[in-house]
Amino acid sequence: MNTPAKNTPKAPDVSIARAKGRPMLSWVGKKPLGRVTAFPAQAVERFNATTHTTTHAADTAPAPALSAADWSKWPQHLREQGQEGGLLYHGDNKEVLAHLLANGFRGQVKLIYIDPPFDSGADYVRKVQLRGPKGTVKIDGEDYALGEQVQYTDIWSNDNYLQFMYERLLMLKELLSEDGALYLHCDWNKAHHLRCLLEEVFGVDGFRNEIIWQRVAARSDSTTYNHIHDVVMYCTKGPDYVWNQQHHAYNEDYLEVKYARKDAAGRRYRLDNITSPNPRPNMTYEWMGHPPPDKGWRYSKDTMQRLHDEGRIWYPDEKQKRPQLIRYLDEAEGVPLRSIWTDINPVNSQADERSEYPTQKPETLLERLITTSTNPGDLVLDCFIGSGTTAAVAQKLGRRWIGCDINKGAIQTTAKRLQGVMREQAQALAAANPQGELVARDDDAAPPAPCQLSFSTWRVNDYDLHIQHNEAVELACQHLGITRTRTDPFFDGTRGAMLAKIIPLNHPLTPLDLEALRTELKNRPEEERDLLVVSLGQEHKAREWVAHYNHNRPVNKIHLTELRTDRKAGGFIQHEPMTVQASATREGDTLVVQIDDVISPSIIARLDLQEGVFRVSIPDWRAVVDCVLIDAHHNGEVFNVALADVPARKQDLVAGRYELPAPPAGAEVALKVIDMLGEECVVRLTA
Ligand SMILES: C[S@@+](CC[C@H](N)C(=O)[O-])C[C@H]1O[C@@H](n2cnc3c(N)ncnc32)[C@H](O)[C@@H]1O
Repeated sequence: MNTPAKNTPKAPDVSIARAKGRPMLSWVGKKPLGRVTAFPAQAVERFNATTHTTTHAADTAPAPALSAADWSKWPQHLREQGQEGGLLYHGDNKEVLAHLLANGFRGQVKLIYIDPPFDSGADYVRKVQLRGPKGTVKIDGEDYALGEQVQYTDIWSNDNYLQFMYERLLMLKELLSEDGALYLHCDWNKAHHLRCLLEEVFGVDGFRNEIIWQRVAARSDSTTYNHIHDVVMYCTKGPDYVWNQQHHAYNEDYLEVKYARKDAAGRRYRLDNITSPNPRPNMTYEWMGHPPPDKGWRYSKDTMQRLHDEGRIWYPDEKQKRPQLIRYLDEAEGVPLRSIWTDINPVNSQADERSEYPTQKPETLLERLITTSTNPGDLVLDCFIGSGTTAAVAQKLGRRWIGCDINKGAIQTTAKRLQGVMREQAQALAAANPQGELVARDDDAAPPAPCQLSFSTWRVNDYDLHIQHNEAVELACQHLGITRTRTDPFFDGTRGAMLAKIIPLNHPLTPLDLEALRTELKNRPEEERDLLVVSLGQEHKAREWVAHYNHNRPVNKIHLTELRTDRKAGGFIQHEPMTVQASATREGDTLVVQIDDVISPSIIARLDLQEGVFRVSIPDWRAVVDCVLIDAHHNGEVFNVALADVPARKQDLVAGRYELPAPPAGAEVALKVIDMLGEECVVRLTA
C-alpha cells in the first residue's frame, strides 16, 4: 500500500458556483458545494504507441504524423512534463473533478458524457475466467471459471444519490467551455429527478433535449410494460454551442414511396418543386416553352440553365404542367437526427468492442454524440468511464480526452482498450505515411487523424491497495469479523451488537460520509445499535465530526476503525501479494525479459472458497495472468509502458518471454503483471 507523499503542499480549495436555475428539487441533506479541496494527482503509468514494442518486435510503430491539434491551452504543468495526451484518472470523481478545476481545465472541456450508476439497487459484476484454451486449468477434471467479480455497486440509501449527482453536475458545469455540452445517460427510474437537477444547474434554457435510445427490443421477464429504452439528456452551457448536424438513414418504406423513380443509369431519385414559395417578380420568365408560375421560379435563369445542362430538370410532356427538380438519393444526407433512436444496438456478446465490463455502452452511440457536439481536436471528458467507451471513440475521432473511474478494474480495462486503439492508429498512420509527413485531412470520408498517441494514468488521493475495491471490502469484512448483510442497502453488515459500514477504501473518511450516515439514521428512528465505521484513512475534520456527534449520545454512537494505522485491524492490508519470478538479461543490443512463474494467492484463495473444491491444478502460470507490461528504463516513479502483452482473446495466453531494445547499462527494468482479478505486482530487475 502507498501512503500519502510527505511534504506535499497543502491541497488548494476550488470554488464552485451556486446553481441559479429554477425549478429546484429538494431532498433531505441537500447542500450546495461552495468549496472543494483539490488533491494533487500522482502519475502512475504512461503509454506511448509510437515508442512502445508489442510482443513481436517487428510490430514497433515508427513515429507517425499526428493531427496538428493546438495544445497551447493545455495546462502548462502537463506541457512541461510532455503530457500532451489522454489523461486517465483513478479516483472518486468528486476529487478528480476538483483536481482538474484546480489544474487548468476550468472552461476547457467541449463535451462531457456521463453514464453514472442509475440507482438501480444492483451490484454490477463481470465474469472472470482464467486464460487459456479450454482445459488449461482443471479442478477435479472440471474446467474452471473464477466466477463473478463485483465491479461497482449501485445501491444507495434515500437521497444520497441525488446529492452525489448534484455535486458532480455542479463541478462538471465549471469544467465545460462556454460552447460546450453535457450528455447525461440514465434510465426511466431516475430520469425525472435528474432532469430537475440539470435544469437547476444549467437553467431551463440550458436543457435542450431528451434522447430516447431504444436499447433492446423486449425483455421476457417484465411484469409491467417492458422498459426497453434509456434516456440521454442533453444540456449546453450557453446559447452558442457546437452543433454538427447528423442524419439518420431513410427507412425503406419512405424510400419506396419517395424515391420510386430510377434514371437510365439506375440512380434512384425523387422530384421536387421548382417554383418559388414567395412572390419573385424577377423570376417570372418562360422556361423551355413552359409559362412562368404565378409566384415565379425558384432559381434565376442562369441557375436554371446550369441545372438543365446537368440533366437535373425533369420535363413533363404537357407544357401546362411544371418541370421539376431531380434530387438523387445518393446525394441526400438523410433525415436530420430526431430524439428517438432505434438504430443503435447494444454491445452484443460477440462484438469486437466488447470488453466484459458490465453496462458497457456501444461505440456508435458515443460516435453520434461526439461528432455532433465537438470538432476534431476538442476535449471530451467522461468521469464514469467504465470500460473506456467515451475515450476510445474520442481517440478514434481525433479528439482529446480525459477519463476517470473509481474502480481499478475500469481503469485497467480502459487502459488496455486505449492501448489497443492507439497502437492500431499508430500502425495505420505509419503504414500510410512512412515519411512521417503531416497527415492531410482533406479526405472527408477518412476519420480525422488522432491528436495524440499517448496517455498517462494518474491517481488522485494516494490510497491504493493494489487490489480491486470490492475485493478489499470483502477482505475487510472477513478480517474484522463483520457478518455481511446483503439485504441492507446502506450498512455492509453487523459485528456483535453493532451495525457496520465500510467506507470505500479509495478515499479517507470525510464529514460527507458521516452526514450520509446521519441521514440514514434519521430514516431509521427505531434503530438503537451503535455503529462501527471502517475506513482506510480519516480526515481530521471527520474525527472532529464524530467527537461532536458522540457527545452525550445515548444510542447510535459511532466507533471508528482506521485500517491504515490500526496494526491489528489493518493486518489484512498486508494480504499475501502475488509473486512473480522473472529475470532480465542482455543479449547484445537486446533486452530479454523472461517470466518463469506467477503465483496469485488471491486467485488460489478464491478457488479454495469454492464449495467442494479440494484439488486445484494450474499447470501453466499464464492462466492466471491477464497482461504483462514492461518499463525497460524505469525511473522509480512512473511506469512507462515500453512493451504491453495483452492477448486479445480469453483463450490466448501471454508470451512470458519478451525481447526489447536494450536500455543503457545499469538501467532498472520494471515488470508489471496483472492477474485475472485485477491485482497488480511490479517487480524490478536489473539487466
Ligand atoms: C454505468 S458504468 C459506465 C459504463 C461506461 N459508459 C462504458 O461504456 O463502459 C458507471 C461507472 O461509474 C463508476 N463510478 C461509480 N461511482 C464513481 C465515482 N464516485 N467516481 C468515479 N467513478 C465512479 C463505476 O465504477 C462504473 O465503472
